[in-house]
Amino acid sequence: MKGIILSGGHGTRLRPLTHTGPKQLIPIANKPVICYAIDDLRNAGITDIGIILGTNMPEKIKEALGDGSDFGVNITYIMQGEPKGLAHAAKTACDFVKDEPFVMYLGDNILKAGIEELVDGFEDSKYSARILLQPVEDPRQFGVAELNDNQEVVNLVEKPKEPKSNLALVGIYLFTKEIFNAIDNIKPSWRDELEITDAIQRLIDTDHDVDSFVVEGWWKDTGKPEDVLDANQLILETINSSIEGVVEDDVKIKGRVVIGKDTIIKSGSVIRGPAVIGSNCIIEGYVGPYTAIGDNTKIIDSEIDSSIVMGEAIIHCEDKIVDSLIGLNAQITTGENKYPKGRSFVIGENSVVKL
Ligand code: G1P
Repeated sequence: MKGIILSGGHGTRLRPLTHTGPKQLIPIANKPVICYAIDDLRNAGITDIGIILGTNMPEKIKEALGDGSDFGVNITYIMQGEPKGLAHAAKTACDFVKDEPFVMYLGDNILKAGIEELVDGFEDSKYSARILLQPVEDPRQFGVAELNDNQEVVNLVEKPKEPKSNLALVGIYLFTKEIFNAIDNIKPSWRDELEITDAIQRLIDTDHDVDSFVVEGWWKDTGKPEDVLDANQLILETINSSIEGVVEDDVKIKGRVVIGKDTIIKSGSVIRGPAVIGSNCIIEGYVGPYTAIGDNTKIIDSEIDSSIVMGEAIIHCEDKIVDSLIGLNAQITTGENKYPKGRSFVIGENSVVKL
């Protein structure tokens, strides 16, 4: 079997972070979200992986993943060009997958349980597709499946206004080459995209067997800031402690904490896990649960929790920082001038500041 990972899309809901890179490189517990998809494929025995590149700085994906050898896989890059939908992206991988069945993994999805169980037995089965489903609170933002009394998939609709069920399509699919023919026979949707949901519906309508799995562990589509923070929290729940850096005297460390190489935790600081701190950071203050701090960051006399700091940042702030996504090389400092009173900002397009 082969794997394809989709890494296109404009990531509009994650601006301004996606002004400087694709959303699939946003770190979750200090690791780009797309790397979790690569791990899942490799752990399921799939090492031949095609990465479908979009138009939002695809070179950054290539730079981060290289030929895949650092991850124990073999990566082939495929240009999608203009994003015309997930089905269009899948079709660009036609020459790469050839006649083999394949997993299509959306590079911004994370699944707790991995995909081994899902992949198991598909190759020798009668199915043309296997989809993953999970009950969600608001299905209107997803593809939604309707099952009959025998638990067979009968109907799939992309982002329905009036969903027929609460079963959302997880962004991980198994296909045989029959999907390419189905893609050739669908029309663009109301959002002018070739929807993979419509292609799977086409398989059903043309009497192909489509199998479904309801996922029990958690699943996150990291398309919005709150989902990125949730995913960070869920991954941090699973980490083990490892301390490589220097912890000065009179530091309190509670719970599971990762501290990277050449990082210094200054005297008097409190680190409460689960939390990860990258390498070459200086931390002086409080780092609370569910926080991930990227490499080369300085936290000076400040408090932060439930947040992601992507790295190279400086935080020197009177107010505690919570539930925040802080981009690479950002600075949050408390002004040195007493007067005039007020906050001072250099804020990019689409930033969000809550005071
Ligand atoms: C896409 C699919 C949708 C699926 C979702 C899962 O949505 O079109 O069917 O439920 O991924 O992440 P999009 O990310 O394009 O909004």
